[in-house]
Amino acid sequence: MNESVQITNLRVVRNGKIILPDLTMSVERGIVAGLLGPSGSGKTTIFRSIVGVQEAESGTITVLDRPSGAKELRTKIGYFTQSASIYSDLTCLENLHYFARLLGDTEISVEEILDLVDLRRNRKQIASSLSGGERARLALATALLGKPELLILDEPTVGLDPVLRRDLWDLFHRLSDQGKTLLISSHVMDEADRCDVLYLLRDGKVLANGTPQGLKEQTGKADMEDVFISLVEKL
Ligand SMILES: Nc1ncnc2c1ncn2[C@@H]1O[C@H](COP(=O)(O)OP(=O)(O)OP(=O)(O)O)[C@@H](O)[C@H]1O
Ligand SMILES: [Mg+2]
Repeated sequence: MNESVQITNLRVVRNGKIILPDLTMSVERGIVAGLLGPSGSGKTTIFRSIVGVQEAESGTITVLDRPSGAKELRTKIGYFTQSASIYSDLTCLENLHYFARLLGDTEISVEEILDLVDLRRNRKQIASSLSGGERARLALATALLGKPELLILDEPTVGLDPVLRRDLWDLFHRLSDQGKTLLISSHVMDEADRCDVLYLLRDGKVLANGTPQGLKEQTGKADMEDVFISLVEKL
């Protein structure tokens, strides 16, 4: 299948509240896809569904040709969550070795990954003493272990300075050039132009999807914030 993720008629209800009424979307392989929408629009819920930890009322999700949650997918998906999942009392290097062991990964990739996220200088530093951006990069590094084919990154650039954000987006594109698929969420519309394809989300529904340029042409707007507003107003 040419898609890395195919979601069909997914319905998710949590505590009696309909979060995703009827979601259908697919993500091609080897691209940087952006999931953009305001807070509460369902981005994290979609990611949890793809990873296989979110119970659904109905619908199907196929990830890399397997049903979501399948055991074989464990090493094929890298998941960066909004609450950085790293151990504060371990150094950067220790964190990576720990997670690498869980995945059965080799030590060489730990070194490679430290370079990739530019944390070589901090390798011996205890995670609790890292700055916010460094912590985010360390958490991202743990998602990159095991050389996953699909990277799911939930707001990976939040709170980072513009230079670091640009560097991370460059890294995302280098990874997609290697054939990986990246699915990245953001509620910052100005990150939209950095994605190959966008899914604009509101109230658990995809308002529109396409290339940033395509969406601008479709709505006749020059910036993504206005594209979003014009799509909402057409509802
Ligand atoms: N356990 C729960 N019970 C009830 N409602 C929930 C539960 N978990 C999430 N929700 C609701 O589901 C909706 C979607 O949440 P989700 O976390 O997917 O949004 P999001 O787009 O990731 O938001 P953000 O940008 O703030 O991270 C929100 O309205 C949230 O309040
Ligand atoms: Mg979220």
